[in-house]
Amino acid sequence: MVGHAWPMMRDPVRFTGSLSQLGDLVEVRLGPVRALVPCHPELLWRVLTDDRVFDKGGPLFDRVRATIGNGVGSCPYAEHRRQRRLIQPAFHHSRLDRYTEVMAQEAAALASRWRNRQVVDVYPALFGAALRTVLRSLFTTRADDTSVDRMRRSVETLLHQITARMFVPNVLQRLPLPINRRFDRALTDLRRHIDALVADYRHTDDDRGDLLSSLLSARDEDERLTDTEVGDQALTMLVAGSDSVAATVSWALHLLDRHPNVRAALHQEVDTVLGGEPARATDLTRLPHTGRVINEALRLYPPGWLFTRITTEDVDLGGHRLPAGTTVAFCPSAVHLRAEVHDRPNAFDPDRWLPERARHLPRGAFVTFGGGARKCAGQEFGLAESTLLLATLASRWRLRSAPGSDPRPVALSTALRPRRLLLEPTTRPGR
Ligand code: HEM
Repeated sequence: MVGHAWPMMRDPVRFTGSLSQLGDLVEVRLGPVRALVPCHPELLWRVLTDDRVFDKGGPLFDRVRATIGNGVGSCPYAEHRRQRRLIQPAFHHSRLDRYTEVMAQEAAALASRWRNRQVVDVYPALFGAALRTVLRSLFTTRADDTSVDRMRRSVETLLHQITARMFVPNVLQRLPLPINRRFDRALTDLRRHIDALVADYRHTDDDRGDLLSSLLSARDEDERLTDTEVGDQALTMLVAGSDSVAATVSWALHLLDRHPNVRAALHQEVDTVLGGEPARATDLTRLPHTGRVINEALRLYPPGWLFTRITTEDVDLGGHRLPAGTTVAFCPSAVHLRAEVHDRPNAFDPDRWLPERARHLPRGAFVTFGGGARKCAGQEFGLAESTLLLATLASRWRLRSAPGSDPRPVALSTALRPRRLLLEPTTRPGR
């Protein structure tokens, strides 16, 4: 019934990373659906950039859309350009300065919450910080800790199940099982929170200079967006912008734990630039090694590990005829771990991102943020936030893995994240 979905979910990096050994375009079975995975950068790039022919949709994706609605990340090509135009101003450079202030504050708050030798379950801690950052920057909400925590749990429940639900027949999803009830409760809870936020904005009618304000004031052919349309965009941002960042920083911390030399270089950079203080937005350009560590974590463990497309007409891809209605799966690891593309692909080597070394990579070689018109809208946001979090944590703490840690990748959500990453922070000398 599930085809390759089971081995794929059990060990997603290894499974998708090994596909290129079979060819440039490899067929896998995801539940009842056959999907083609491009493993060559050129083929993958074609799929990403020809978004009219390789559109979002099809039987697997429709199940995701049923959950997160028809926002910019899930709508079909026919609606995409209009939706992207509506959200794009919220990600303009001029706005990022304000957002990075919030990111820096949240990173500093997280670092100061930890105690010497206390064992920290890293992913949920980072998830809370990332969710609060999205709420405070894109929605400028005054959400208190209790509601942030409830939203965090609801988003987590959704993310845990969204990908798995792609492979489970609809009829099973409707059974009154505890797992389905939890999912429905989380979705209702989150929608209720978002509706309350939208109602609050509509009530005051202030321009708060954030995403929600621009969506609410947006006019489309002279019609205002409905609350449902605005709510779908808000849910998209919460889902896309929280666990991806939490997963990125978790993997970076895990990789640093395994590579003391890289960690030492990171501490050296952070100490020189920050002098024991938390990172501020203005420090970002002075932390190139930290940025490369983040990039390399994103190559080895791309948070978005599986996305799908459906062909809207007959098309030729790498010499293969794909009839209309073919599912194509976009798995970054299928290219990121290919030896012909990246030298020693399984090695953790942040310096491969030095400009002189990265310059020679072909298009489609690094697709953690996708590509083409549907490329991640929050790329700069996510990179800045991950870098600030990592630098601030490393400035204050030395982090070592603690007993009971199990960093195997889990893919039961949109983000590939460690099963349970336990780290023990110890105060760094002089802090
Ligand atoms: C390191 C963190 C992140 C990673 C690795 C990541 C990755 C991705 C990828 C691969 C896509 C394209 C999906 C596809 O082609 O089907 C995407 C789309 C998107 N991401 Fe991100 N993302 C990250 C952070 C964020 C953040 C922080 C936000 C918002 C605050 C965000 C908002 C979006 C949106 C709105 C889209 C849909 C774009 C469109 O279809 O036009 N992402 N992301």
